[in-house]
Amino acid sequence: QMIEGAGKILAPGFVDVHVHFRDPGLTYKEDIVTGAAAAAAGGYTTVVCMANTKPTIDCVEVFEEVAMREQKLPIHVLQAANVTMGMQGKTLTDMKALHRAGAVGFTDDGVPVMDEKLFTEALRVCKELDVPISVHEEDPKYICSAGVNQGTVSEQLGLGGASAEAETAMVKRDIALNETIGAKLDIQHISSAETVKLLRDAKARGIRVYGEVTPQHLAATEELVLERGALARVNPPLRTEADRKALLRGLADGTIDMIATDHAPHSAEEKARPIAEAPSGMIGLETALGLVMTYAVRSKEAELMQVLRALTCNPAKLYGLEAGRIQKGKSADLVLFDPECKWTVPQTFASKATNSPFIGMELYGKVCMTICNGQIVYQEGEK
Ligand code: DOR
Ligand code: ZN
Ligand code: ZN
Repeated sequence: QMIEGAGKILAPGFVDVHVHFRDPGLTYKEDIVTGAAAAAAGGYTTVVCMANTKPTIDCVEVFEEVAMREQKLPIHVLQAANVTMGMQGKTLTDMKALHRAGAVGFTDDGVPVMDEKLFTEALRVCKELDVPISVHEEDPKYICSAGVNQGTVSEQLGLGGASAEAETAMVKRDIALNETIGAKLDIQHISSAETVKLLRDAKARGIRVYGEVTPQHLAATEELVLERGALARVNPPLRTEADRKALLRGLADGTIDMIATDHAPHSAEEKARPIAEAPSGMIGLETALGLVMTYAVRSKEAELMQVLRALTCNPAKLYGLEAGRIQKGKSADLVLFDPECKWTVPQTFASKATNSPFIGMELYGKVCMTICNGQIVYQEGEK
C-alpha cells in the first residue's frame, strides 16, 4: 500500500506515560476501548494508565481483573499500580507482587506518601525492580490553606488546588530522598517555574530524576479558567505566563524529559456543575500534538526534534521500551502527521468525554495516520 507522505513527518508512535482511562469503575467517564481510540487518534501507540480507578489498583486481584480486559486494543495500553493501599498514602502495596502481575510502574495518583521512611522504602523497591515511580507532587499542607494561593485565579474562585508551593515542597523532598537511591523518579505534570529550576539543579548534580509537562501547561495560563470555567479546572492548576515560559524553556533545554497529557476524562454533567464543585482534569490525547506544535514549535520556543523526543524516545526509555520499535523483524509503531495543517478543535472526540477547554480553538499540526504493530489503527477522516 502506498501512503502519501509529502510535506508530512513520520515519527515513532507517541508514548504517553500519564493517562486516566477510568476503567474499572468510572467507565461513564471513559473506558479502556474509548481511551485507546482517543490515543490512536492523537498519534499515540503506547500509554501508561494511572491507578485511581474504582477500586484503586492496589492488589494483584484488581490488577488481574484489569489486565483481563486488555484484549484486542488498537494500541499498547500499559498499567501502573498505586503505591499505597486504597490510595491512602499510609501503607505500601505489595509492589513486587504487582510487578510480577504486570504493573509497569507505580503512581501515587495525587495522594503523596508523607511518611519519609515509607516513601524511601517505595523508592528502594522501585529501584530494585527498575520501574518508574510517578508522583503527582502535591503537599497537602499547601492545598486549600489560606495564604499560599494568594492572588491566583484558583484562590479567587475558591478552588483550592495545589499551589506552586505545594508542588515545589514535595519535589524538593522527593529529589533529596532519591539522591542516594537513584530510582526512576518521575515528577508528573510540572507546573511551576520553581520546579523546573529544582529539576535542572538536581540533574546538574547527577541525581536521577525525570520530569513530565502537559500540553495544557505549555499552552495556557490561568486566564483560560476565567474564559472557559470548569473545563479549564485542572490539577495542578494552570498558572502564570512566567510559569508557562519557564516550562517551555525547560522543555527546550532538556530539563523536562517528557510531554504527558494527564488525560483526565469527566462527564459533561460533572463539568456542568458550578466550578468549585466540578472535578479537576481535562482530556488531552487528541489535542496534544496540536497544542505542542502550536505553542512550542511554531512559536519557536522549542525545536521540533526536542519536542519529538519528549513525545517518543524519552518516555519510551523511562519504561524500558523501544520508541517506534523500528527494527528489522519487528512491526513498527508510527505516526504520520502534518506539521502545518490548521484545524479547529471539534466538540466531540474519539474519547467518550468532551471536557476540553480547547474546543473551538485553532491549532496547527494534525495527525494523519497512526500505525501500531504494523497495522493502521487510525486514519484521518475515517471512523
Ligand atoms: O486534574 C487532574 N485530574 N489531575 C490529575 O492529576 C488527576 C486527574 C483525574 O484523575 O481526574
Ligand atoms: Zn495529578
Ligand atoms: Zn494524573
